[in-house]
Amino acid sequence: MEENDNVIAMPRINERAPEFKAVTTQGEIHFPNDYEGSWTILFSHPADFTPVCTSEFMTFASLEGKFAEANCKLIGLSIDGLYSHIAWLRTIKEKIEYKGMKNIEVNFPLIEDIKMNVAKKYGMIQPGESDTKAVRAVFFVDPKGMVRAMIYYPLSLGRNFDELYRALIAMQTADEFGIATPADWVPGDDVIIGPAGSCGAAKKRMEDSEIDCKDWFFCTKKLDKDKVLKAILKK
Ligand code: BEZ
Repeated sequence: MEENDNVIAMPRINERAPEFKAVTTQGEIHFPNDYEGSWTILFSHPADFTPVCTSEFMTFASLEGKFAEANCKLIGLSIDGLYSHIAWLRTIKEKIEYKGMKNIEVNFPLIEDIKMNVAKKYGMIQPGESDTKAVRAVFFVDPKGMVRAMIYYPLSLGRNFDELYRALIAMQTADEFGIATPADWVPGDDVIIGPAGSCGAAKKRMEDSEIDCKDWFFCTKKLDKDKVLKAILKK
């Protein structure tokens, strides 16, 4: 057993993603090292052969190509064994039809984490919710292996995959163009210019015809949707 194996830790934004080696349905992985150069969404679910998780896996698997176009790979995890994972994914492909999705093959890795080694490093065990099942956690890890965002949901709440995609694209856009994104932003909407750091900067932006200031501290500018998509999506 490694030191700290029993500590339940929480990753933190803008720190390196906790490192692990794990057995998955696609072979062994070493995270984040094997994933450098790509964004990754690492997500946990409570258990195989459960309905909310099945709806989520089918949705994520059907969107895998869309995330791949945005240079993002997917990794799932639950506190179940490899053979349970394999049996569940085979059942999904062979038998489950849901919301127009059928014959869905899950090609991204699903980590077996019976000993909770990974779950404990990522704060996926939240005893107020369950001692034995991982909550629905989502970690966005950037191409340098840094944690950029985290979202945690309780067991009963299926995730919104449009929001996960929106968050990914918004962070990539912020990195690419040095801006921030307002509430409910989607590509094509105006973006936010960071706070003015001096009186001179505040005055200058109030006078700039390309910048729309509601007041000196709240300024937006146009950012063309095609420009965003061209910068973000692999062609
Ligand atoms: C589900 O995926 O359906 C589920 C799993 C654990 C608790 C509640 C629901």
